[in-house]
Amino acid sequence: MQENNTLPITINKAETSRLDQVDFENLTFGNVFTDHMLTCDFVDGKWQTPVIKPYGPLTISPGARVFHYGQAIFEGMKAYRDEQDDVWLFRPEENFLRFNKSSKRLAIPELPRDVFFEGLLTLLRMDKNWVPKGYGNTLYIRPFVFGDQVGVSAAPSGTYKFMILLCPVKAYYAGDVKVLIAENYSRAANGGVGAAKAAGNYGAQFYPTSLAKEKGFDQIIWTDDCSHQYLEEAGTMNVFFRINDTLITAPTSDRILDGVTRKSVLALAEREGISTEVRKITVSELLEAAKNKSLKEIFGAGTAAVISPVSGFGYKDDFFELPSQEDSFAKRMKKSLLDIQYNISKDPFNWTL
Ligand code: COI
Repeated sequence: MQENNTLPITINKAETSRLDQVDFENLTFGNVFTDHMLTCDFVDGKWQTPVIKPYGPLTISPGARVFHYGQAIFEGMKAYRDEQDDVWLFRPEENFLRFNKSSKRLAIPELPRDVFFEGLLTLLRMDKNWVPKGYGNTLYIRPFVFGDQVGVSAAPSGTYKFMILLCPVKAYYAGDVKVLIAENYSRAANGGVGAAKAAGNYGAQFYPTSLAKEKGFDQIIWTDDCSHQYLEEAGTMNVFFRINDTLITAPTSDRILDGVTRKSVLALAEREGISTEVRKITVSELLEAAKNKSLKEIFGAGTAAVISPVSGFGYKDDFFELPSQEDSFAKRMKKSLLDIQYNISKDPFNWTL
């Protein structure tokens, strides 16, 4: 993390730290927050001075537009502590660019670069002791913005609140995941907001995912909204399919999130000589590959999920088990990625900051 302090930031420090009350061995993803949070208001047509203050509740009018029209987007990033106790960010520029891309799609004013970066780095420096030690443990960073102007007419908010919260976390999924291929419900539509990290994209998955959970699945692999034949993404992660020795993932579109981990896996795989294909892949191709055993593995890739191997998938009334591979691409990709993120191996891409 680089030092930088040209932006004025109002700082109100917590009197005492809650750090010693946290059971770092038993963290549930995203339930514990650090001592401080950042807020920055968009008022009178401009972003105001950011404020860092103790983590705590907000006072928001029930008439705020976010509650009525869901004008809210977010990002997911992580900070990693290396063996020398230095703290690193991974490709934060990608998150910043996507944050503003999502904002634009939701008619939210774009955030200046210095508010995002200097705000984040100052907050991280203040709560640096919360970045957990240990390979696989991280500080999850949640930047988000929402419209807080009062009024229930269906129009964009005139005021917004940008915030950053920090949560020490362990892995998002404890082990392998089982996924169900979507047959009826859709996550995103052409021309819609699927490529944005709109809060509503996630909320809209909860009901179909709860039905899948009743059947013993952890996640849904979403298919296209028209034919339900094209495999797209899994909602909390992009998806990779290994058929024989080729790693295949769907191309990004306005229905699929341009995942930072997804593009990092593609770059790492190419560097390691693994053949990759970014192309549409259909349910029929997957079923055929599962039946003739050329489907070797499936894994998800995302900031929270990192690389999550899939142990099996369901489609209609069938279940296809994927036996774990000794030298799986998922394990290889996870190691290569984490070794860069934790500054264990040299970062040939200049991804870390
Ligand atoms: C992330 O990986 O940061 C995500 O956006 C997934 C999140 C919904 C837990």
